[in-house]
Amino acid sequence: MAQTIRVVVNGRTVERSVPERMLLVDFIRDELGLTGTHQGCTYEGVCGACTVHLNGEAVKSCMMLAVQADGEEITTIEGLARDGALHPVQKAFNEHHALQCGYCTSGMIMNAVDFLRTTPAPTEAEIRHALIGNICRCTGYQNIVAAVAAAAAAMRARAAE
Ligand code: FES
Ligand code: FES
Repeated sequence: MAQTIRVVVNGRTVERSVPERMLLVDFIRDELGLTGTHQGCTYEGVCGACTVHLNGEAVKSCMMLAVQADGEEITTIEGLARDGALHPVQKAFNEHHALQCGYCTSGMIMNAVDFLRTTPAPTEAEIRHALIGNICRCTGYQNIVAAVAAAAAAMRARAAE
């Protein structure tokens, strides 16, 4: 059975007929072609590579159906930059060499952006805890934690201007 859904993805309204059992991650990647969202653990919900924002909050898009997003707003890594400028978290990942193969990176960043929205001045322990659901097999995490801390500082400085 197919069902028609309408979602706002990265600020653009899209309407599609999708199989009722299609996962949101597959909708994003295969229907919309937004392949910055990754699928890393064969839909088990453990790696975090598929993390996107649903109405501004980080969700693992392999853990919900596309039809459950009907009427909602989705942001993927492709929609994070504004007016050609990288989001501060993207910028910090770049500057702090917080990626190697990059497979985990979009999910890490989407999770970190949501985390910093609610925790603007995190401790290192809080950053590590927030990223516990995002697995990276390359970096050893140290540079990722440094990048999130740097992004938090940059965002606080910008807010104080
Ligand atoms: S693909 Fe969703 S958590 Fe791994
Ligand atoms: S950079 Fe390769 S999995 Fe994280």
